[in-house]
Amino acid sequence: MPKVLIVFGSTTGNTEGVAETIAKTLNGNGVEATVKNAADVTAPGLADGYDAVLFGCSTWGDDEIELQEDFVPLYEDLDRAGLKGKKVAVFGCGDSSYTYFCGAVDVIEKKVEELGATLVAGSLKIDGEPDSAEVVDWAKEVLGRV
Ligand SMILES: Cc1cc2nc3c(=O)[nH]c(=O)nc-3n(C[C@H](O)[C@H](O)[C@H](O)COP(=O)(O)O)c2cc1C
Repeated sequence: MPKVLIVFGSTTGNTEGVAETIAKTLNGNGVEATVKNAADVTAPGLADGYDAVLFGCSTWGDDEIELQEDFVPLYEDLDRAGLKGKKVAVFGCGDSSYTYFCGAVDVIEKKVEELGATLVAGSLKIDGEPDSAEVVDWAKEVLGRV
């Protein structure tokens, strides 16, 4: 059974809820998914023992892209997470009225690719309140690729 780690950074709970929905979908379909809050993890060896890692992060800031605050220390140390050759996908909540809609998702995708991870699915960018059907569809897409 593939093992998938889901790590999220979330301030108001939107991205956290998305992470839980993804985990539920994966766990109900032959994958062992574990959810961790970015506030509770450190980067060294984070991906060890997992077949794939899904990163979730909301976007903050006005004139520039700011990652959700709990995700920042992890992002800055991400080269120690063991992502080389690892399957990765990225999701996050945002608001399209801002200049950089879900900019954190783009920033994290770029970083994990630089670190040698393989993006196994296009990112999931959620505008406003998460719609669970959209999240489940994305999780099912990921499901076949981990
Ligand atoms: C001060 C502020 C700045 C924000 N900046 C952005 C932004 O630059 N891009 C974006 O897509 N969303 C932005 N958002 C929207 C949040 O990312 C959105 O509310 C998201 O659902 C929060 O997710 P979370 O509860 O998981 O933290 C901003 C919201 C606030 C209040």
